[in-house]
Amino acid sequence: MSNKMWGGRFAEVPPKFVEEFGAVIKVETRLCPYDIQGSLAHVTMLGETGILQKEDVEKIKEGLKLVGKEIDDGKFTFNAEDEDIHMAIEKRLTEIIGLTGGKLHTGRSRNDQCCIDSYLYFRDAAKECQKLIIEIQKAIFEQAEKNFGSIMPGFTHLQVAQPVLVSHWLMAYFWMLKRDYARLQSFLDRLVECPLGAAALAGTDFPIDRWSTAKQLGFEKPTENSIDTVADRDYCIEFASIATISYMHLSRLCEEIIIFASQEYKFVELSDDFTTGSSIMPQKKNCDFAELIKGRTGRMYGYLQAMLTMMKGIPLAYDKDMQEDKFLSYETIDLWQNTMKVMAPMVRKMKINTRRTYQAASNGFSTATDMADYLVRKGLPFREAHRVVGQTVRYCVENDKTFDDLTLEEFKVQSSLFEEDIFNDISLEHSVEARKSYGGTSPEAVKVQMQHAERLLNEA
Ligand code: ARG
Repeated sequence: MSNKMWGGRFAEVPPKFVEEFGAVIKVETRLCPYDIQGSLAHVTMLGETGILQKEDVEKIKEGLKLVGKEIDDGKFTFNAEDEDIHMAIEKRLTEIIGLTGGKLHTGRSRNDQCCIDSYLYFRDAAKECQKLIIEIQKAIFEQAEKNFGSIMPGFTHLQVAQPVLVSHWLMAYFWMLKRDYARLQSFLDRLVECPLGAAALAGTDFPIDRWSTAKQLGFEKPTENSIDTVADRDYCIEFASIATISYMHLSRLCEEIIIFASQEYKFVELSDDFTTGSSIMPQKKNCDFAELIKGRTGRMYGYLQAMLTMMKGIPLAYDKDMQEDKFLSYETIDLWQNTMKVMAPMVRKMKINTRRTYQAASNGFSTATDMADYLVRKGLPFREAHRVVGQTVRYCVENDKTFDDLTLEEFKVQSSLFEEDIFNDISLEHSVEARKSYGGTSPEAVKVQMQHAERLLNEA
């Protein structure tokens, strides 16, 4: 007979390399504190309901705490032969307190046990991600405050579109991250039903009290269907999709930083400690970390894809395929958290060259829309005004001029409606200030969004 915990019906066990192939134990050590916490709640409930004697309950609790301490102190050895931490912890418990340890698993299965561990872990991980999101938001907000009033070109198609406040551009990322934060919150708000007590898939014939364990572990109520409970990995997929969306946001910011830090733009400069040099070209200052984040977006999308694919053909209830959720979830969480830890100081320490951004906004005819709007105010239909300004731009391009170089006479050749006041209307300041619509780029409107942002940061 094998000495495995489930060894009763086996004459032989898998050879070492096969065992290693199936083991998740070394990957999931982060679940240990949650496993102990879940077991403590479970055994407390077994005592409350009279399923276990009080002495056994106390003994098991003491033992679990000792195992927990061994793990905290780094004295616990994780062996592939134990498969997962659930079996390793129970085995160690039994070594310490004797056969009574075997009573812990009464009315429970690893199937609901691994779910409760993951729920508890995800709860902490999601809250940690929220904190890290706020750090990046603060960095963005600080930059928006520091550079308030400065102007840059806004782009569409990466072509100069209209002038915007630098703060407006920065704050765009603040609101993306706000949605990521809110998605995490609704993820947490949904994680309020306790899986413990679903047992293997069918519930249990012991008179367990699932409300007790739910309450002890900070849940509102038990889950409704034991089959669904152990077959469900929506929470892993949901978390990964939130992480993926947020990572896409971070990646876009990184790409803008990389472009804007280039010699051709010079809008921003990352601090030395968030860049690297070249082994051959002494002049180089590369945005390696921003590039890596952008590059690792591929991995992040991969984790989500892998999880969705892993789950798509699993017959109810639990199948071992689902153990893959551990590798994929931890990779997802670690990558996202580590990335956010890099992003916050990278953004905070970035320098924005507002002289350059202003200069760039003065080129590229960024106030062409304002010029058309001017003609509209003088009575020309917008389509007609669009054509006149288009021709004016062409005149400038052909004669190597910017709008600022044009004299009133040159304007008048394009349209007799142009008067002296055109010069004010096509200034960058006027263009930006005029866009007072709610959520627009005028300093007034940006101030409003920044006040709202500040309130959110203070509430968080
Ligand atoms: N280590 C397993 C997992 O993470 C725990 C559940 C094992 N259940 C089973 N029926 N083999 O998925």
